[in-house]
Amino acid sequence: MNAGKGRTWVSSDEIRAPIREELSLLERELDRIFSPDVDLVSAIGRHLVTTKGKMVRPILVFLSAKLGNSDMGSAIKVAAAVEVIHTATLLHDDSIDRSHLRRGLPTVNRLWNDQVSVIMGDHLFCSAFRLVHDAGLFDVASVLSWGSDRMTYGEMYQMDLRGKYDVTEEAYLRMIKLKTAALFAAACKAGAMVGGLSQQNRDALAAYGDCLGIAFQMVDDILDFVGDVNLLGKPIGNDLRDGRVTLPLIVALRNAGTDEAGRIKEIITSGSLDDTAWSEVLKFVDENDGIGYTRRSAENLVADAKTCIEHLEPNPAKASLMSLADLVITRYK
Ligand code: IPE
Ligand code: IPE
Ligand code: MG
Ligand code: MG
Repeated sequence: MNAGKGRTWVSSDEIRAPIREELSLLERELDRIFSPDVDLVSAIGRHLVTTKGKMVRPILVFLSAKLGNSDMGSAIKVAAAVEVIHTATLLHDDSIDRSHLRRGLPTVNRLWNDQVSVIMGDHLFCSAFRLVHDAGLFDVASVLSWGSDRMTYGEMYQMDLRGKYDVTEEAYLRMIKLKTAALFAAACKAGAMVGGLSQQNRDALAAYGDCLGIAFQMVDDILDFVGDVNLLGKPIGNDLRDGRVTLPLIVALRNAGTDEAGRIKEIITSGSLDDTAWSEVLKFVDENDGIGYTRRSAENLVADAKTCIEHLEPNPAKASLMSLADLVITRYK
């Protein structure tokens, strides 16, 4: 897949330009949060600080806040809380998914164990809520708890769907809207709240985040088939190996003849997917339009996301939100 190699992700100057100062203060805030005085917690904190991700969600908070008149101190607390919540979800997710690689380094569950990863995730969830609570941002706390509630519900829903090869596109969409898009929507809405935007515009930003989050997860699921492990920094093929049926496979199974679909299901369920089996599944998914359909669906959602904020006054933060939406499609990490 030509996923735009050579383009930088949200380090893109254009997108970061309106929020450069906020991003550097955020780094300091995260360093502070990840450096407590209990040895184990601080060892994991140091690991997490050295493996920062793309920072998509804090960028959404800052850009949404910049659409209005945000108080920078509050925006930084909210952005830090959102990134800490996201980090907590990854610690839990990597244990659930039995994944050993994240951001190019071994996962916490690999370096320590599942117990440590789960409790550290719980600790980070609580720290994030304490941060917004101590800052007196009670409305924001309510939005972030909604996002976290939906996200964890989505992870449970995913567990319920695990190993089911007759999952419908509707069920998949419902699941990713919960597990991924809810936090994107919450990040945008919380940013819009600290920016003092009108209720109508807060809702518009939340709708933008919702569409973007669904598209983001669709692309993530494409990359699990055709991504490059060295660029992604996380394993390829993990979804299928762990029984998670995502849109590319749902569509390919739907489009293929019964015999071919049956044979592929047998390959997938017959044990470890060796290189030959993996190549065959990949060819099947691609030839039956699984990748193409998922990509077109993500493109449509990105167009919808942009429509949600089209009416806003032109401003550099709005331009960055528009560009960020496009990057979700072309991303390769
Ligand atoms: C990974 O999120 C989890 C998904 C929702 C697919 P990111 O791709 O934003 O992860 P980092 O923070 O950049 O590593
Ligand atoms: C996103 O799904 C998980 C969360 C919302 C926490 P994935 O399981 O696909 O995320 P990756 O691929 O491990 O980053
Ligand atoms: Mg995972
Ligand atoms: Mg994934």
